[in-house]
Amino acid sequence: MSKKHFVAIVLAAGKGSRMQSDVPKQYMSIQGKPILYYSLKAFQESEVEEIILVVGASEKESCQKNIVEHYGFTKVTAIVSGGEQRYQSVYNALQLLRQRGKKSCDYVMIHDAARPLVSKRILRDVMNQVVMKDAVVVGVVSKDTIKIVDQENRVVTTPIRSNTYSIQTPQAFAFQLVMDAYDTVIEQNVAGITDDAMVVEYATSQKIQVIEGDYANIKVTTAEDITVIEMLLNKINNEKEREV
Ligand code: CTP
Ligand code: MG
Repeated sequence: MSKKHFVAIVLAAGKGSRMQSDVPKQYMSIQGKPILYYSLKAFQESEVEEIILVVGASEKESCQKNIVEHYGFTKVTAIVSGGEQRYQSVYNALQLLRQRGKKSCDYVMIHDAARPLVSKRILRDVMNQVVMKDAVVVGVVSKDTIKIVDQENRVVTTPIRSNTYSIQTPQAFAFQLVMDAYDTVIEQNVAGITDDAMVVEYATSQKIQVIEGDYANIKVTTAEDITVIEMLLNKINNEKEREV
C-alpha cells in the first residue's frame, strides 16, 4: 500500500467578532507570537505532508511574508482566501485540493487556527484513526451537564453527561467523503453548519468516530481565553524545560 497523503487545512479567515479586539484573534500575540503561529507549528512538526492555510483575502500577502516565510513554515503549500462562513472557508480549500487532481490528497485534517494548543499526541491519534475509520473528530466529555432547551429556554431533555462531548478540532476525513458531503451541503444551501462533522452527518450515512481530545485544546473565543492560553502555554513550557 502506498503512503497516504495527509493535508491539513488551517482555518484563519474568521473575523473574531466575539473577541471584540482590534485585530482578528488569530493574529493576537501570546508570548510574543501570533496565535496562528502556534497552530501552524503543530502541523509543521507533525507527520502531515502539507498545509493549506485559509485567511481573509486582504491578509494573504502579509500572512505569506510575516508568518509563513518569517517562521519558516515550509509545509504551507497554498494560502487560500476564506469565505463569509467557516464552512465556506473550508470549501474553498477543498476545492483547491480537488483542482490539483486525484493523487494530491487522501485525508484532510481540518483545524481551527484559534486552537493553538493542539498537541502532538492528538495529531498522531487523529492520523492513525482516520485511516481506519474515514471520519474522526476529537472531543472531550462535557464537564457540565448539557440541557436541550426549546425556543423559550425551557428544558426539554437532559442527555446522560457521559454521552455528551464537547467537540474540538482537528476533524479528519477521507478526502472524497468530505468533498462530496461539502458539495451536497453547498448545493442545498444547508443552514446552521458549525463543524465539519455536521456536513458529513447531513450528507452521508458515514459513522463518525469521536476520539479523546484534550481539555487544553481550547478555542480562543473571548478575551478570558487568552489568559487561559497564556497560563497553559507557561505550564507546557515549564514541563518541556524539566524534561531536558
Ligand atoms: N473561520 C474561517 N472562516 C470564517 C469563519 C471562521 O476560517 N468565515 C475560522 C476562524 O478563523 C477560527 C475557526 O474558523 O480559527 C473557528 O471559528 P470561530 O471560533 O467562530 O472564529 P471567528 O468566526 O473568527 O469568531 P466569531 O465567531 O467570534 O466571529
Ligand atoms: Mg465564527
